[in-house]
Amino acid sequence: MHPPVTQLEMPPSSSLQMTPFCRRLGLTAPIVQAPVGSAATPELAAAVSNAGGLGMLALTWTPPASVRERIRAARALTDRAFGVNLVLEWDQHARVRACVEESVAVVSTFWGDPGPYVDPIHAGGALHVHTVGSAEEARRAVEAGVDVIVAQGWEAGGRVWGQVATLPLLPAVVDAVRPVPVLAAGGVADGRGLAAVLVLGADAAWVGTRFLLAREASVHDEWRRRIRDASETSTWYGTVFDRGWPGAPHRTLRNSTLEAWERAGRPAAPGRPGEGDVVAYAPDGACLYRYGPDPPLAGATGDVEGLAMYAGQSAGIVEQVRPAGAIVDELVSGAADALTGTIRRAPDPSSPLGQKARACDPLA
Ligand SMILES: Cc1cc2nc3c(=O)[nH]c(=O)nc-3n(C[C@H](O)[C@H](O)[C@H](O)COP(=O)(O)O)c2cc1C
Repeated sequence: MHPPVTQLEMPPSSSLQMTPFCRRLGLTAPIVQAPVGSAATPELAAAVSNAGGLGMLALTWTPPASVRERIRAARALTDRAFGVNLVLEWDQHARVRACVEESVAVVSTFWGDPGPYVDPIHAGGALHVHTVGSAEEARRAVEAGVDVIVAQGWEAGGRVWGQVATLPLLPAVVDAVRPVPVLAAGGVADGRGLAAVLVLGADAAWVGTRFLLAREASVHDEWRRRIRDASETSTWYGTVFDRGWPGAPHRTLRNSTLEAWERAGRPAAPGRPGEGDVVAYAPDGACLYRYGPDPPLAGATGDVEGLAMYAGQSAGIVEQVRPAGAIVDELVSGAADALTGTIRRAPDPSSPLGQKARACDPLA
């Protein structure tokens, strides 16, 4: 017989043990809001940092002059640490200079060789965080001088670097680079997922899809609705939204653009259905093309459903639109419940599965 849950020694349900990464940055929640492209507004990053997590801005495509404005906009809303992210498919030295001059706490790099950026990032006193998809790549990044590794699993939303799922990837990376802190990206969208990656050795979770439903994120209502309605099988991994960034795999929700391309027999560019069509307009009026990389941000107009609506497989378990701070709290308290074993493992007794389980339970 298992002892009743109440007889077990339990940590307080309101808090999680803080890890070296959290202590270094003064975080009270082991949660990083992933840099979800232009959906990551200064308001989102600041709200996450104010709630005890680490907010992130995605500045890859922001003109260097505006990089400072975005950082200052976030700083005006929080006095806590936050970070910036840069994709290394393009040269980022000018942006790194602007970021370190603005004294950001964290510079994260993705999609390329972090080596040339280690010294410039450290020169400004920032932590260098780099995203990998394998243990070997993590080892190389640490040898190059990176301070913190993000292990991104294949189930992640947005651009997906590797092809290994989070569950096998994370412990392999943790073992490869110990004691360097590792953050877990891909598939963490509720407290159970956060608990799982902490148990697997992560210092924090790097959460993207869940924060697309934060009120402060710049996400068109249609994109939000599709995420809320999605199941775990609603996403697609491939390279179809490749205009401007060819050959970069990504995970999006299935949509009309993808389905028309599949019906046409998956032809190569430029012979795809509707190739070159303007399907929608950005909030500033810029044209958004079919097969383009831009998702529908808040304020976009036109056939926004045809755009790249990035989401991870965790879209199947996220539903509620909430303020970012409430999402941080929900993840922390859910993880604490999961770790203390107070979470119900049995299915809801009123559900058909629950009734079936009850009928088969000899102790019921
Ligand atoms: C809309 C969207 C945009 C993204 N843009 C970036 C980016 O600019 N830079 C980056 O490093 N990662 C980007 N990612 C990937 C995230 O950093 C992260 O790895 C991923 O969201 C984690 O998986 P999850 O979505 O299952 O939480 C993006 C993800 C999404 C959903």
